[in-house]
Amino acid sequence: METDKKEIKKFYGAFAGDKYLTEIRRFGLRYDEMIETIVDLLSITSPKEILDIGCGIGNIEELIFEKLPNSKITCIELSSEMASVSKERLIKFQNKVNIICQDILNFESKQKFDVIFSNLVIHNLSIAKKKELLKKIRTWLKPNGIFIWGEFMDWKDKEIDKHFMDYRKKVILESGADKKIVEDILVKEEKDPRLTVIETIDLLRKVGFKNPEVLWVYSFLAVFRARKMNGK
Ligand SMILES: C[S@@+](CC[C@H](N)C(=O)[O-])C[C@H]1O[C@@H](n2cnc3c(N)ncnc32)[C@H](O)[C@@H]1O
Repeated sequence: METDKKEIKKFYGAFAGDKYLTEIRRFGLRYDEMIETIVDLLSITSPKEILDIGCGIGNIEELIFEKLPNSKITCIELSSEMASVSKERLIKFQNKVNIICQDILNFESKQKFDVIFSNLVIHNLSIAKKKELLKKIRTWLKPNGIFIWGEFMDWKDKEIDKHFMDYRKKVILESGADKKIVEDILVKEEKDPRLTVIETIDLLRKVGFKNPEVLWVYSFLAVFRARKMNGK
């Protein structure tokens, strides 16, 4: 089941600001390692034009500009609260960053990108919408362009799934998180149509990406990389 778009906007809008980093670090457990991996993978090909799907508060952009000061980043963000926090945060890069407050499903682009990435966003979409979006992402990439996708994973073996989730909940609560926030987030996550690592790779292949691979996995998180081949 998919969470309604209005609810998604409200849910993320409530975390706009520094509060977001506190909570995502609690709920992501290894969030910093995950985004460092994404920025590292992103830097391999020294991309000039980058698209970020669901930029949140713009913290990943800061890391990218440290490594790739000459890159240009287009950010798409559904929540107006999140988009305005990232505009403020990235003000010093304003000639290199374009933050568009829009649902990625309504985004159209004539511009083509060297790298497109998305972290912890696409899990919100139904499987059909994930597929529709991945097809569009391919068309927005230049030949040989790279897609990097960080995501919450599902594990089909429920014993493993429960083990990871119980451990996560314990760590989150021990870190001093508000019990109500923990319950709200875990209830929302139950509805997310998450994929397993294998299903993600299959889906990337199905929509035409070449060499999809999982390059970082920790418990319920994973980072994938796939390529659009020349001219295809
Ligand atoms: C968990 S946050 C991740 C933010 C950032 N990518 C990160 O890794 O910290 C998910 C973000 O995606 C945005 N989002 C969710 N659905 C979206 C959509 N359909 N189009 C654009 N942004 C979306 C949310 O508003 C939120 O800011």
